[in-house]
Amino acid sequence: MRVIHSQSELIKTLKVLTNIAFVPTMGNLHEGHHKLIEEALKKTKYVVVSIFINPLQFNSKEDFLSYPRTIDEDLSILQKLNVPFVFAPSKEDILGALQIIEIHLPNIANDLCGKFRPGHFNGVTTIVCKLFNLIRPDLAFFGKKDFQQLFLIKELVKQLNYPIQIIGIDTIRDGDGLAKSSRNTLLSAENRKKASQLFKLMNTMKDEVIQKTSSFKEIEESATKSLNTSGWAVDYIAIRSAQSLKTPVHDENHIVILGAASLGSVRLIDNIEFCI
Ligand code: PAJ
Repeated sequence: MRVIHSQSELIKTLKVLTNIAFVPTMGNLHEGHHKLIEEALKKTKYVVVSIFINPLQFNSKEDFLSYPRTIDEDLSILQKLNVPFVFAPSKEDILGALQIIEIHLPNIANDLCGKFRPGHFNGVTTIVCKLFNLIRPDLAFFGKKDFQQLFLIKELVKQLNYPIQIIGIDTIRDGDGLAKSSRNTLLSAENRKKASQLFKLMNTMKDEVIQKTSSFKEIEESATKSLNTSGWAVDYIAIRSAQSLKTPVHDENHIVILGAASLGSVRLIDNIEFCI
């Protein structure tokens, strides 16, 4: 496994290769990341995994500083998974110059998570573009757990004509349904027990949507109330079109329920996608 720290070494190493698959991460690797990497390795032997905790996408300094940093463990996982290339740049190397050129995103980037994390998706797409430009992959793997992120990356690739196939991978979960996340390790033991409530509630909402028990608005409101009553602080719980992420139109049948809510200081997100 080759661990590359600088842009110049990365460009030199990858220049001679074709059929590159890319898996961007912020490290603290768990089974969700493993799945992305395993799927990438099924497609090509030239897989590049990046590890970079991108300061541009954090809304608060505390959140950035408390993000788990586990580079040694991450590298040993990647070695075991037989990943040939890891790109782990320093902040100076990849964000050395002041980053004042950004991507202009569609309005949906300011809705859902974007509404509660202003500028977050600008930060995500800016770093992803920089990494795409350096790595020039043929394929790139993203998790459906970050549904809005995947949606915007697909849109970005389409609208900016990147010759990259974006592959979305299903969410990997713990036994109780909680989506694997680097943030789960920050939960207290008590809140970890509670954390699967979010996905369980989304499953109940899915049944209600399918059975049309009440309006989407009523289903969203009652789910929000139920989580808030159990000690969560809900940012949003929303029933949307999986195609546009907008409020479903009358005969919409491809639905996604998305949500973000905090337990203590730990903000969790999840979603469930289905057809009616
Ligand atoms: P990070 O949170 O490290 O996630 C890296 C990739 O792993 C993302 O595509 C994410 O959707 C996916 N992932 C996370 N948890 C998952 C799970 N339980 N099941 C399946 N996939 C999962 O997302 C980011 O980093 C950053 O925004 C990044 C794209 C690297 C840009 O900085």
